[in-house]
Amino acid sequence: MCGIVGYSGGRSAASILLNGLKRLEYRGYDSAGIALGGPDGVCIHKREGKVAGLVEQLGDYENRPEIQRAHSGIAHTRWATHGPPTTANAHPHAGGSGEVVLVHNGIIENHSSLRAKLQADGYQFVSETDTEVLSHLIARELLETESLVDAVRLALTQVVGTFGICCMCAAEPDVLVVARRGSPIVIGLAEGETIVASDASAIISHTRQVIYLDDDDVARIEHGSVDISSLDARPVTRETADIDWSSDAVEKGGYAHYMLKEIHDQPEAIRNAIRGRLDATRGTAVLAGLNLEPRDLVDLQRVVFVGCGTSLNAGLVGEYAVEDFAAMLAEVEQAAEFRYRNPIVSSTDLLLAISQSGETADTLAAVREAAEKGACVAGLVNVVGSTIAREAGRGIYLHAGPEISVASTKAFTCQVAVLLMVALKMGRSRRMSREAGIQIVKEIQRVPELVERVVATSDAIAMVAQHFTECQHMFYIGRGYMYPVALEGALKIKEISYVHAEGYHAAELKHGPIALLEKGTPVVAVLCEGPGKDKVLGNVAECQARGAVVVGLITEGDEESRDICDHVIEVPKSPHYTATITATVALQLFAYHVARLRDCPIDQPRNLAKSVTVE
Ligand code: F6R
Repeated sequence: MCGIVGYSGGRSAASILLNGLKRLEYRGYDSAGIALGGPDGVCIHKREGKVAGLVEQLGDYENRPEIQRAHSGIAHTRWATHGPPTTANAHPHAGGSGEVVLVHNGIIENHSSLRAKLQADGYQFVSETDTEVLSHLIARELLETESLVDAVRLALTQVVGTFGICCMCAAEPDVLVVARRGSPIVIGLAEGETIVASDASAIISHTRQVIYLDDDDVARIEHGSVDISSLDARPVTRETADIDWSSDAVEKGGYAHYMLKEIHDQPEAIRNAIRGRLDATRGTAVLAGLNLEPRDLVDLQRVVFVGCGTSLNAGLVGEYAVEDFAAMLAEVEQAAEFRYRNPIVSSTDLLLAISQSGETADTLAAVREAAEKGACVAGLVNVVGSTIAREAGRGIYLHAGPEISVASTKAFTCQVAVLLMVALKMGRSRRMSREAGIQIVKEIQRVPELVERVVATSDAIAMVAQHFTECQHMFYIGRGYMYPVALEGALKIKEISYVHAEGYHAAELKHGPIALLEKGTPVVAVLCEGPGKDKVLGNVAECQARGAVVVGLITEGDEESRDICDHVIEVPKSPHYTATITATVALQLFAYHVARLRDCPIDQPRNLAKSVTVE
């Protein structure tokens, strides 16, 4: 989604801001802009398209004194919501007659009524955005108050919706005012300077010391000084945190794409996700952040997993594992559906919100709804300090490291690894024996090495992929634990290669989708050894009888499946519950190679954003 960078300090701001924007490109955007404050006032440069186009527009900016003189500024990458991705709609937006300049993530829901009032007062609009409404609103309040920070406060009290903003004004060009409600803002602290961003990856090359703003915090920044207060002007203290990953983690490290790097990161990422969390003697998991003792777990009667997209698919594995290991009621629900369905939850339910970014609007709303109804709420989140992590109060971090590619890979496999540990812990607090627990611990510990073996077959998977570069449609089928794998495989290929792909429960095929099969239609059948495999083989025969070309995702040494399928991709032998991870890694690579051979922009697929902070 949209990205924000701001700078106030002793250095020339332009290159810091432009480099910050490049760091945020992965989030997905369609226009970019920058505003620089200096002795000559605040000057805006913006355009539709990529950051490279903006840099080109600035010309030889490192040798333009009027640009180099600016020691403060704000910058933005916009993912269009209100109005198409044009230069006029790009941020920053000026308010009043240009005395206020603003970048904004989120949505101002009452923008229409505010716009009408401002127009009646003579304010002229040049864009279709909700953001321009806020910039005029701040400019109007600035007429009545002494300072930008007060004007921002007064304007924000009139706003309904979500915002992460960074604002500056011509009268105080070294001052930035930032604020948030539902859209993250991180403040990076360095000697004599401050770098603000919507995401720590734009800050990490300057400093590791950060402050995460809470909802309704407003901060006034001038060079190295940061004053935080509430929307009603009470001083607020926020802790300083250390970013625990290095700037290398946001580099491609020699890989052609972030997605490929992150697929290769997975053995290490899963090691980090399980490190110190498995007790091989007691046959259980140690999940301190959950803060639930065995006696609390016994009182729980149901686990509800909520998430969106890939995180929702991980939740489905969680549902199967909790039922399987703990013989306990479990459900998974799309977070948007959960929030609007008036769900029945109580204090004996554990709601586990799954989110890589920790900022997904619908998942956050589900957390709030479940907490309102008295459920025990926990987060399963990757980004430290994110809103869901903080609001859930209890939870488990993935420790997968930053995920830059829009298509989620290592977050999914780490989510599944953690969910298996949650199910194990639930199981051990109920009927599961110590011996059975020890066996599951051993299997989870083997996963990083098994994933290494799958990643090493990338070239063989590429050979299979080359048969499918021209296809328009694909089907993915699986049963049991392999059903969420089929869903995730289909999601991966559709988002990065633009091949229309659908994941189905293999049994569902006969209830309609089989009508679409014709000669040459590709079907990916997830046939890893385990309950249901033979039934899927039966479904494969039905597909082949209608001319489909079947790619079997099979267990090494499964000659029966190899003989039946037209192409095969192999994964090492493991129980069905951990094969969810290895099989998904193989399908990530399959999707990656199809997309690469189709020459698709793998890390930044069209229309997609890395974190969906609006409904
Ligand atoms: C797919 C993908 C999305 C996200 C979804 C939820 O590759 O990345 O489907 O999984 O937008 O995002 P988080 O996990 O950040 O809540």
